[in-house]
Amino acid sequence: MCLLIAEEQLIELAERFGTPLYIYKESRIRENFDEFKTAFEGAKICYAYKANTSLAICHILRQKGAAADVVSEGELRTALRVGINPEDIIFTNNAKTNEEIEFAIDSGVIINVDSIDELNSIAETGKPAKISFRVNPAVDPKTHPKIATGMKESKFGLHLEKDTALEAYRKASELSNVEIIGVQMHIGSQITDMTSFSDATEKLMEFVMRLKNDMGIQLRFIDVGGGLGISYAGEEIPKPVDLAARILPIIKKYSIELGYEPDVWLEPGRYLVANAGVLLCEVQSVKKTPYKNFVNVNCGFNVLLRPAMYDSFHRIKVLGKTGNGEKYDIAGNICESGDILGRERELPPVEKGDIIAILDAGAYGFSMASQYNSRPRPAEILVRENSVEVIREREGWEDLWRGQKVPDDLIN
Ligand code: LLP
Repeated sequence: MCLLIAEEQLIELAERFGTPLYIYKESRIRENFDEFKTAFEGAKICYAYKANTSLAICHILRQKGAAADVVSEGELRTALRVGINPEDIIFTNNAKTNEEIEFAIDSGVIINVDSIDELNSIAETGKPAKISFRVNPAVDPKTHPKIATGMKESKFGLHLEKDTALEAYRKASELSNVEIIGVQMHIGSQITDMTSFSDATEKLMEFVMRLKNDMGIQLRFIDVGGGLGISYAGEEIPKPVDLAARILPIIKKYSIELGYEPDVWLEPGRYLVANAGVLLCEVQSVKKTPYKNFVNVNCGFNVLLRPAMYDSFHRIKVLGKTGNGEKYDIAGNICESGDILGRERELPPVEKGDIIAILDAGAYGFSMASQYNSRPRPAEILVRENSVEVIREREGWEDLWRGQKVPDDLIN
C-alpha cells in the first residue's frame, strides 16, 4: 500500500502532535491542481470549499490560481478572507437566506440561483446582481444515493425538463437589476462513470443553444460542477484527463453551432485534496469476541464521518507493521454501533498503542468533523517541502463549552 508520507515520519508526527491527527501533504495538493489545470487548459477551476475549508489549504489552492465554489455565507467569507477575487466566487445553495443573498450581492460574487423564489428575493433587493442558474439535467451519476445531486428527484437546481429552467432565464432577463452571466450544474460526487458526465454535458449544451436561439441569451460561462471520483481502494479509475476527453469535445461541438465560446468552469473538491490527507489514530485495545475481532481506536465518526454516512471505504494501515494476521473491524470510539471505520480488514498483528493510518482522508474529513460525544476536534498538520506546520490547533475542553450560558438558578 503506497503511503503519501513515509511511515516513520507519520509515527513521529503522531508522537509529536498526538492523535487523532489530520496530516496533509502540500506538494500533493499542488500536483492535483496541476493535473486538473493541464487537463482542462484555459478553464476556470473553482475549488469546492466544502471538501476542506482549512485556511492553509484554501491558500495553497488560491496560490495555484483556483477560484472558489462556496455553499454558505461562512464559506463565502472564508473565500474572501483567503483573497479570492469576488468575480471568481460562485455561491451555490438551494436555500439561501435573504441575509446570505444581500451579503453575496454586496460582496460582488456570482449567485448561482436555485429557484424562482430565490430569483424574486434577488430582484427585491433592487441591487445589481450577477447570476447563473443551477440546472438539473436529470442524469444518474451511479454513485452513492446520498451524493447524487442531479437526478430527477434531487432537491437541487431547476429542471431542464418542461422548460422550467428556460422559464427562469426568461424571468431573469426581464429584471433590470439582474445580469445573467452563466449556467451551472453539479450531478454528484465520487463519480467514476464518465457517461453520466457526457450525457449531462450534452443536455447542458443543448440548453445553452436554446437560450441563444429562443431568447438571444449569450452566456459568459458554463460551469459543469465537480464530482470526479478518486481511487479509494487503489483501483484504476478515470482521471481529469479522461473527463476532459469526454466533455470538452461536446462543448466544442456546440460552441461552433452557437457561434461563441463560453468559458468552461469546473468545481472539483475531492479530487484536489482527498489523497493529500491521512488521518492518524491510536489503537486503544484489541478485542476478540466469539463472532468478530475489533480494533478500538481513539477516533470515530465525529472525526471521519464518511464510513458511517456513506458506507465509504478508506484503506487502513497499521504503521510500522507488516505481514498478515486476522480480520478485524476498526471500531471508532463513538457510542453508536454504526461507528465502524473499516470492516473485515485483514491487518498485521495489531496491538494496543499501534498507530493506524486511514488514507485519502483529505476531503470531507475535517470539514465534516463534529464534537459529538463531547470530543474536541483534532489538530491539522501540513507537511511542506522543508517544514511541518500546525495549521489548526487541537481543540481543548473549553471549546466544548464556548458560547454556552447557564441561567443562574440552574447552577445551585
Ligand atoms: N459543486 C457543488 C455544487 C457541490 O455540491 C459539490 C459537492 C462539489 C462541487 C464538489 O464535488 P466533488 O468534486 O468534491 O465531488 N460529503 C460527501 C461528498 C458531498 C459532496 C457534496 N457536494 C463525501 O464525503 O463523499
